[in-house]
Amino acid sequence: NNIERINELVANCNLPDEDLKVLLTTLNKSEEEYLYAKSSEVAKSVYGNKVFFRGLIEFSNYCKNDCIYCGIRRSNKNVERYRLNKDDILVCAKAGYELGFRTIVLQSGEDLSFNDEYICDIVKSIKDEYPDIAVTLSIGEKSYESYKKYYDAGADRYLLRHETINEKHYEKLHPEEMKLSNRIECLKNLKEIGFQVGCGIMVGSPYQTVENIVEDLRFMKEFEPHMIGIGPFIAHKDTPFKDEKSGTLEDTLHLLAIIRLMLPKVLLPATTALGTINPLGRELGIKAGANVVMPNLSPTNVRDKYMLYDGKICTGDEAAECRMCMQRRIESIGYEVEVSRGDYVDFAN
Ligand code: 5AD
Ligand code: FES
Repeated sequence: NNIERINELVANCNLPDEDLKVLLTTLNKSEEEYLYAKSSEVAKSVYGNKVFFRGLIEFSNYCKNDCIYCGIRRSNKNVERYRLNKDDILVCAKAGYELGFRTIVLQSGEDLSFNDEYICDIVKSIKDEYPDIAVTLSIGEKSYESYKKYYDAGADRYLLRHETINEKHYEKLHPEEMKLSNRIECLKNLKEIGFQVGCGIMVGSPYQTVENIVEDLRFMKEFEPHMIGIGPFIAHKDTPFKDEKSGTLEDTLHLLAIIRLMLPKVLLPATTALGTINPLGRELGIKAGANVVMPNLSPTNVRDKYMLYDGKICTGDEAAECRMCMQRRIESIGYEVEVSRGDYVDFAN
């Protein structure tokens, strides 16, 4: 039964595909509670009773890609495009530093006007000014050489969700020119170069099956990323998926918990998308085994332009407000805010 499956998962950090599938589809309320008790216990045994803070700067919503699900895809003509320059980004980073953040995540669409030199210049400037900050990049698919330059400039981590490991499914979510094989190649290159690397998927993306999720779990178990970004798919009104339904809170929480048990050391955010589908989504995510939150540091005048999906929360809140709001939320469920860099537990650099 499911309690035995959960126990086996706790003991082995693994479970046969068929049992994963059953767990993902048949948990009742009391089994669910048992699962979250185990997954949060494992998270605490590795990282303590703490939630890591990352300050997110969304510095450009220009994107050369046309992912079907994404609100800032290039063919969405209703987006007011913006890009921050180096000075703007440094102002945000300073504000973040003063609010206590020791990880800054720089995220954007795939905006080719930020060439490698410019990205490296920005990374170097942040690292020179604040040597105790970890810089995470989340700027998409690049060549090995580009990644290496970012790393040599001082970038510590890189987030690149693989979105789905199933090729057929990947093709349904992306235009023809985008290839799953390239994305996986990118992830391998990032790891080889020495980044702490994050992959991840959306839960309940159109055409996703439970078999696909099991395949993703298999892939992630094998790839052993340092970070995993998991949030529900949420439709965006200006995309071809506008009428598709969102991923559910339950499915997302189940998956967070299972990932925590399969990869006990992984850094696992309770995402903004999870907070968007349910007002207490992020808190529930932490109780299911997530241990990272990423409050927004972007200037308020661009916040509402970085809309990957409808209804995104926090678009009107100043960085300091989000910082304090998240702290309250975390403390309300009995956790502590951890503002140190928060590297992967036994990362060797
Ligand atoms: N709903 C939820 N998540 C989305 N992302 C992009 N579009 C959506 C959407 N409509 C996620 C993708 C991407 C990350 C930056 O945001 O997984 O990798
Ligand atoms: Fe942004 Fe609550 S985290 S307002």
